[in-house]
Amino acid sequence: MKSLSKIEFPDSIQQRIMENMGTSLLLLDESLMIIYINPACEMLFEISRRKACGKLWTQLVIENQSLTDRMKESVLRGHPFTKREVQLDLSGGRSLTVDCNITPLFVPEAEPNLLVEIQHMERQVQISKEEQLISQNHAVRALVRGMAHEVKNPLGGLRGAAQLLERELDDEQLKEYTRIIISEADRLQELVDRMLGPSALPKKEMINIHEIFERVHNLVRVEAGDSIEIVHDYDPSIPEINADRDQLIQALLNLVRNAIQAMADSGTLTLRTRSKRQYTIGNRRYKLIVLVEVIDTGPGIPKEIQEQIFLPMITGRAEGTGLGLSIAQSLINRHNGLIECTSEPGNTVFKILIPLENNND
Ligand SMILES: Nc1ncnc2c1ncn2[C@@H]1O[C@H](COP(=O)(O)OP(=O)(O)OP(=O)(O)O)[C@@H](O)[C@H]1O
Ligand SMILES: [Mg+2]
Repeated sequence: MKSLSKIEFPDSIQQRIMENMGTSLLLLDESLMIIYINPACEMLFEISRRKACGKLWTQLVIENQSLTDRMKESVLRGHPFTKREVQLDLSGGRSLTVDCNITPLFVPEAEPNLLVEIQHMERQVQISKEEQLISQNHAVRALVRGMAHEVKNPLGGLRGAAQLLERELDDEQLKEYTRIIISEADRLQELVDRMLGPSALPKKEMINIHEIFERVHNLVRVEAGDSIEIVHDYDPSIPEINADRDQLIQALLNLVRNAIQAMADSGTLTLRTRSKRQYTIGNRRYKLIVLVEVIDTGPGIPKEIQEQIFLPMITGRAEGTGLGLSIAQSLINRHNGLIECTSEPGNTVFKILIPLENNND
């Protein structure tokens, strides 16, 4: 077995550079056994050089077969490659998203080595898609809820006063004005109630996710009409999940309604369920999660609002209030889950991820 001491550096400056650089470096032999790890990589992988050297790469990083296969190919053929945003699941249970540069090193009269440079995407960037969605949603929803509360009381007063006034008026024409005040106050009240969102804590019970889908399907069947095809792609082996039935229906309904509205008069809506093992949500890995996908063939989310669609009051529809997705996101967050979205014309995918347990320990 080779070890650090047997690797010859042309001069000590190069060795010092490797030891001090911020990029994580690994040197592997032909069989992908670790023969050198620099301190940055020791810190990143939370493993000491003593423990890492002599181990196979696949003992350190689990379940990234595609990267490992390419590394084997690279050392055989001598082709360097770069892979961006790779998820490395470490044997300790942590998950990292990194950019990898793999370079085969040919040393005269010796077996080739593989230099692995790992750039850990900044923690904030790595979790931004997920954790930021959750925390941003919490913060903005708190603000919106605060505002809605403030509006609610004076609105009640306004409506009450308009009713009293209406009783005092004999002139039908003048009554028309008080009726407008009352009906507009009612409209605002409805909006404020939606802004406040669901306040009850989830009442969890064991439920079958497909039953939820069927309920939602029944509710939107009429809205969808005949020109929108609804395709079911269910994984029947998904176990029951511990969740609040009404809240799940509400969240799913908001996504399905958006899809139907986006497709306007024709398209295909696919409702898909899958289970996934060892899946990371935010910075937490779960043994088993349920993945629910709502896919539509509509025009896609307008580019200018794509990054903000989960924020309240962001809408691309003239008659929209922009609350549907923000409410759905908070409902799923309460189940320790997350809603993610990717969208391009003809293919918009909303993914609901719900862990089947509360943590992975
Ligand atoms: N499947 C989709 N395809 C295209 N655009 C979408 C889709 N889902 C959401 N959007 C866009 O995201 C915006 C925000 O959606 P959200 O459900 O939060 O609010 P809304 O539908 O506008 O109003 P509300 O749901 O409160 O009635 C929508 O207005 C629409 O522009
Ligand atoms: Mg909506």
